[in-house]
Amino acid sequence: MSKMKKLIAGNWKMNGSLAANEALLRELSQGLAIAPVCEVLVCVPAPYLAQISALKAGCAALSALELGAQDVSAQASGAYTGEVSAAMLKDMGCRYVIVGHSERRQYHFETDALVADKAKVALATGITPIVCVGETLAEREAGRTEEVVKRQLAAVIHANGHCISEIVVAYEPVWAIGTGKTASPEEAQAVHAVLRAQLKAATDKAERIRILYGGSMNAANAESLLTQPDIDGGLIGGASLKAPDFLKIIAAVQV
Ligand code: 13P
Repeated sequence: MSKMKKLIAGNWKMNGSLAANEALLRELSQGLAIAPVCEVLVCVPAPYLAQISALKAGCAALSALELGAQDVSAQASGAYTGEVSAAMLKDMGCRYVIVGHSERRQYHFETDALVADKAKVALATGITPIVCVGETLAEREAGRTEEVVKRQLAAVIHANGHCISEIVVAYEPVWAIGTGKTASPEEAQAVHAVLRAQLKAATDKAERIRILYGGSMNAANAESLLTQPDIDGGLIGGASLKAPDFLKIIAAVQV
């Protein structure tokens, strides 16, 4: 059983507006006035990082809310039009950045090697990368789940050496993202145990690496997932955009 503080992370994806973000944070602040037992994070679209930083600074109940981004450039700076560097994210107050989300692997053709480089640049800048791994439906049906997630994680372990103990891993089966289909707690736990074993082979600090589950996690299924021994939190898409749902997931976390 792993002992670190659990992490409940919202991934807003490409959603939000100045007005909607402010309303969402106001609702969240009411629910977070009494500090939760877990760490809470929102990964917001890059243009809104400054807004969320400012809202956090102006509201004591949001002071413990962590801020994160959804992607980072593998390059440090320079002629990379449209990219956002890790140093810029750090400037904006980001503690975390998601790397290798399946939507970026799928729509932006991000390779395992690029994802590993992004994790490396984040770590070098003092930002914790949340490394996403997960199999597609076709890969699951072909019995390749373990092979795929291990390959994806191996690239990050290979590129980051002993720093690997500083990452967060998110297991997000692609077939469960935004589909309403969730991996059962037992299915998710089985993959998390595989990932934990792989981390243990790479570092003696594997017990403190948080492995999040993501994919249609919601207020109704959160508790059964979050009580699995190797599930150390959640990476939540749709349900993180509705304050009552996100707060219910946070409330489902037990110490
Ligand atoms: P949903 O919670 O909307 O399925 O999204 C999961 C996800 O991709 C989080 O990164």
